[in-house]
Amino acid sequence: MIPAIRGTHDILPGEIERWQRAEQVVRDVCERYGYREIRTPVIEREELFAKGTGETTDIVQKEMYAFEDKGGERVTLRPEATPSMVRAFVEHALEQRLPTVKIFSLGPMFRYERPQKGRYRQFHQLDVEVFGVADATLDAEVVEMAAALVDALGIDDAEVVLNSVGCAECRPGFSRALLAALGDRAADLCGDCRRRAAVNPLRIFDCKVPSCQPIVDALPHATDYLCDPCRSHFEATTALLKALDVDFRVSHRLVRGLDYYTRTTFEIRGGRLGAQNALLGGGRYDGLVRQLGGPDRAGIGFAAGMERLVLAMPEGPGPRAPDAFIVALGDAARQSAHRLARDLRRAGLTVLIDYGDRSMKAQLRRANRTSARHVLILGEDELARASVTVKHMASGGETLVGRQDVVRMLTADPASAEQPAPKRGLSVLADDEPEGGPGDVEQPAPKRRLRVPDTAV
Ligand code: HAM
Repeated sequence: MIPAIRGTHDILPGEIERWQRAEQVVRDVCERYGYREIRTPVIEREELFAKGTGETTDIVQKEMYAFEDKGGERVTLRPEATPSMVRAFVEHALEQRLPTVKIFSLGPMFRYERPQKGRYRQFHQLDVEVFGVADATLDAEVVEMAAALVDALGIDDAEVVLNSVGCAECRPGFSRALLAALGDRAADLCGDCRRRAAVNPLRIFDCKVPSCQPIVDALPHATDYLCDPCRSHFEATTALLKALDVDFRVSHRLVRGLDYYTRTTFEIRGGRLGAQNALLGGGRYDGLVRQLGGPDRAGIGFAAGMERLVLAMPEGPGPRAPDAFIVALGDAARQSAHRLARDLRRAGLTVLIDYGDRSMKAQLRRANRTSARHVLILGEDELARASVTVKHMASGGETLVGRQDVVRMLTADPASAEQPAPKRGLSVLADDEPEGGPGDVEQPAPKRRLRVPDTAV
């Protein structure tokens, strides 16, 4: 057996239902806020992330799956979606196609990180981006939408954390203030922090090393060094968030691990997740579009780790039970059973059937394992009478039903009616059965009934 690569994982039946539920909620929320879906390639030029995510970030320095392809081009599996979204925005002049460029994407990302609970080397993100709107009302809407998403997923212990990291005007002053405040204590920082102090002092706030914490806690706050426009932007954002009833906490340590942020940064953290507790994170990046060769357009967005959302979500309903399992004995009955399965499926029902020439007992055991609502039995007796024995599993009741009435009967079953509406318009073929005939009338089932065993195989 060749096992999966460390830090990657299969999402199996039983677990996939939670993913599908999360994805459905994600799509609904995105649609309600006016976002349109886009899909970009998982492989891009390495340069896009070196320039976009930033040369000084851990992602670019240590975590990218970057390599030379067979044509000699430097490429990478995307570690995040924002630079790709910016590239697509510029490359396809999306602002000419969409009234407001609000786009979202769902898909896998790749980072060579040390795997642990909630942290993987291939993981999935919902990425949400808006281009061309610099106003603080959008910052508040984006944060409120992120909170609404977490809420809609039923995650009730989440906390919204907010900060402002200023802009190209005021950040250099803040960086100088950080270095001045560090003074001689810079020598006591860990190796990573000393390196960070040299290239981008804001990164020091990301440090998790215990011995650095007292030093980092005593550092000045970015919000005290904002220029006037950045300060009013932050005040307008927080004022609208309050008006929108979003609970949030301002944390001066929230600088985020990517280079492109300007002004608003935010995260939503989930209490039950352990060390990797960021459900989602994002912020404004007003210089990035131009930096990547596009027009001077503002940008803001966030990305949510789908694994973490799925982990934090409460348990939901299990997979939907099939409407029917068809059991058939003998070649002729089997052929008829397959036609019946086709007809029921075309009428919108979920139908399973056994394959090969297995005993009635073995087929009934399998039917039982599937928790199908009905078991439909087609033996020689039924075939001779152009009928099917329909066993309603919840009540245990059995009826002999005319072949051409089975579709009508099962689609009218209230349990089936709870399911999505059957696809209309597809012809339901029952051309192997005569019109009228004995099957038209409901009759008692033939006597030789086998009980459906209780024990699963
Ligand atoms: P990020 O903070 O690097 O931001 O990632 C966003 C989210 O992706 C995290 O909060 C976390 O839930 C999830 N995540 C990140 N790395 C991993 C991992 N190794 N395993 C599992 N989940 C992970 C960004 O990616 C930015 N592009 C967000 C953004 C969009 N900013 C503006 N627009």
